[in-house]
Amino acid sequence: MTTKPDVYITRRLPQPALDIIAAACNYTLWDDEARPVPRDLLLRAIPDVDGVLTLLTERVDAEFLAAAPRCKVVANMAVGYDNVDLAALNARNVLLTNTPGVLTETVADLAWALLMATGRRVVEGHTLITAGGWADWSPMFMVGQDIHGATLGIVGAGRIGAAVARRARGFAMRVIYHNRRPSPAIETETGAAYRTLDDLLREADFVVVSVPLTDTTRGMFGAREFALMKTTAVFVNVARGAVVQEMELYEALQQGRPWSAGLDVFEHEPIGADHPLLTLPNVVAAPHIGSATTATRTRMATLAATNLVAAVTGQPVPNPVNLETIG
Ligand code: DGY
Repeated sequence: MTTKPDVYITRRLPQPALDIIAAACNYTLWDDEARPVPRDLLLRAIPDVDGVLTLLTERVDAEFLAAAPRCKVVANMAVGYDNVDLAALNARNVLLTNTPGVLTETVADLAWALLMATGRRVVEGHTLITAGGWADWSPMFMVGQDIHGATLGIVGAGRIGAAVARRARGFAMRVIYHNRRPSPAIETETGAAYRTLDDLLREADFVVVSVPLTDTTRGMFGAREFALMKTTAVFVNVARGAVVQEMELYEALQQGRPWSAGLDVFEHEPIGADHPLLTLPNVVAAPHIGSATTATRTRMATLAATNLVAAVTGQPVPNPVNLETIG
């Protein structure tokens, strides 16, 4: 009789994901859906496991790996993995997997929800009404920015950036993009034209950020970049909060350049109700819900489970991040 691998799951996941893991592994989990496992409990739970399924709420670093000496794989339930110290994993030959592809369209939908809500002042209007502040209809009351026919600037031409660009067709928008390297794929698929970042910021009416958080992109939007934008421009971030220097965005919004911002992500999450950005009427904030639909979160969980099981049972892994580095 062969023994099953032992794995740890850092959150209660949708049942289909747990079923995939249970069929091949012995698992223990932090049996709470809403709150992350406390760090000390996590470190005490993993000394004998062959693999761990993590969320972006867990910091996976040298300390984590030292607490899990048998661990062969970290299966992160997210496409982004800035919560993981990849160099530390590589040094220990631990495989990292992520969940690309399954959330692309859902995150692009949310980028558009923020773009439209922000450009047309939907949340500001709702707040005004519920506060009893709607006095009358008047010609220039709550005027916003036209979306149809405007120029959409995508920063980050990966899967999500391309999916945001595809949706612009229905609004007859002109699409420009910036990426580390020009991407023939996004140009062919969406007709988007490449720009330097500075030119994109000068030209775009709506800027949507969908870059991964790396040493290069950390803090890439600060006072200098906001000063290049139009006074009518809308800035949308569905990537990671730390690509933006938040206090510089706060000051830029107060000065009216950009005109407004729709933000799904923040440098430190969850942000408190006293965060300066939330005091501004021209900010629409969402609590990192880009991929949050029932279907997509279930797909992400089952894909992370499939990656975990494949790695601990020696099968080909669907979404390895560092296979070539660890050999
Ligand atoms: C990711 O997958 O990186 C998202 O931010 C969570 O959906």
